[in-house]
Amino acid sequence: MGKNMSRRFIYFLPLIFLPIFAHGNDGPAGGDFSTAAGAEREAFQHIVWEKTAQNLWDKVRTGRSLTRQTWVISPSLETNIAGLGPTYNRPSCISCHPANGRGQPPATPDEAMHSMLVRLSIPGTDAHGGPKHEPHYGDQLNEFGVPGVPGEGEAFLQWQTRSERLADGKEVELRWPTIGFRHLAFGPLHDKLLTSARVAPPIFGLGLLEAVPEADIVAIAQAQKAANNGIAGIPNQVWDAGRKRQALGRFGWKANQPTTRQQIAGALAGDMGVTSDIMPEPNCPPAQTACAAVKAKVGERHPEITTADLDAMTLYHFVLAVPDARQQDDPGVRAGKTLFNAIGCATCHQPTLKTGAFPRLPALANQTIHPYTDLLLHDMGPELADGRPDYRANGQQWRTPPLWGIGLTQKVNGHSNFLHDGRARNALEAILWHGGEGKNAREAVRNMSAEEREALLAFLDAL
Ligand code: HEC
Ligand code: HEC
Repeated sequence: MGKNMSRRFIYFLPLIFLPIFAHGNDGPAGGDFSTAAGAEREAFQHIVWEKTAQNLWDKVRTGRSLTRQTWVISPSLETNIAGLGPTYNRPSCISCHPANGRGQPPATPDEAMHSMLVRLSIPGTDAHGGPKHEPHYGDQLNEFGVPGVPGEGEAFLQWQTRSERLADGKEVELRWPTIGFRHLAFGPLHDKLLTSARVAPPIFGLGLLEAVPEADIVAIAQAQKAANNGIAGIPNQVWDAGRKRQALGRFGWKANQPTTRQQIAGALAGDMGVTSDIMPEPNCPPAQTACAAVKAKVGERHPEITTADLDAMTLYHFVLAVPDARQQDDPGVRAGKTLFNAIGCATCHQPTLKTGAFPRLPALANQTIHPYTDLLLHDMGPELADGRPDYRANGQQWRTPPLWGIGLTQKVNGHSNFLHDGRARNALEAILWHGGEGKNAREAVRNMSAEEREALLAFLDAL
């Protein structure tokens, strides 16, 4: 990294609108809920037993089993994993979140979606300000049905590519998908259909993100606005079905879920057809009569997952440790970190947050964490847009995803497909898709020397 780099660094200085953060080792990524385990396939599956009160251990184990289990149709002898369907996408959580990691889009139009889903809606909002369901297919296409119930149909992706030339001459091919549908069981989709194809994100460290005080997230949004430099995230505001009021959204690609518990209940209902205390309604739009009939017949157990089991799954997610950053003393990684801060990546991907009080699991309280997110929605430009509003998020806005653990994706999941629809095949492609509020940061990367770019990527790879 020598002179060349420092000269360029000075060139970047006028682009800096936010304080440059201190260098050096920041401390464990997830505070007390960190794992130093390093780069292995199990990196996202470590539980912080020693910080979890011993009387909760059985509950954590139950939550882990329920997250790993393949769910079956009712009635069944194994009552606590029965209730799959009538329609569903996949029979287990980890089929979309393999090893608690991330999913991947199909590479060709012939391939089915194994670890991603397509959200559906039509213009307008539901009673709580959320997306208005497609009348015959609901808010998510469910490919499969239990015996006697037709699956709704299949979504597939068709890829296009274009080439992008960076300032130093490097060529990068970018690909992007268009969504198609086939085998639709209930007639054509609405002519004003809105769609959003989303891969499953990793699911560790969520208790920590949930424990960040709402006021702190709002304060980051205010600071961004006050800086007046083209980056101004907003918090999503979504329906909290448990507390029956609007709440700040934190989870999902558009921050459309307020809590881990509701996110899991949403997954149980939307992806697997399993009802719960906060999502008691079977997912059967009126046109789907076989769906409703089966639900009425086998639905003797309502809701299909007990409150205690849903709490256990939530607890399991809360205690999943965050992998520590690695190679922090490597000069390239350190240089990359400096660049990350200097060119404004850190404005959205906030390196440091603090958790507040968290009575439900006090061990999560008052932790200094390094998630690299502000949990805010940002306009990422027309190219990344899905055009589908989700509460306060418009069609161009996405939540800044946490970057902790991102360098382990290849090791854990055997791929490095990033962004909401998995279009990026590595971190550089992900950066080059940044538009809108992320455009200046992207342009800074486009103009980097190869050495600087490698340093930035080495830093991401060490997270
Ligand atoms: C069909 C694939 C699929 C299945 C099955 C699935 N998920 Fe997901 N999961 C997703 C997608 C896609 C998202 C992002 C949703 C969005 O942006 O609206 C997600 C988001 C999440 C999140 C939020 C993570 C974050 O950082 O925001 C959690 C937690 C989660 N899922 C847990 C579960 C659990 C628990 C189950 C089983 C009950 C499950 N998922 C089943 C695809 C799936
Ligand atoms: C304006 C806010 C903003 C800035 C600035 C920004 N990002 Fe992002 N970043 C996002 C959002 C939002 C997404 C998700 C977009 C999507 O999925 O469509 C994202 C996605 C990513 C991803 C993929 C993460 C994943 O889980 O798939 C990486 C890697 C990334 N950003 C790195 C960077 C780097 C490096 C920089 C600086 C060059 C940067 N970002 C600047 C908001 C920002």
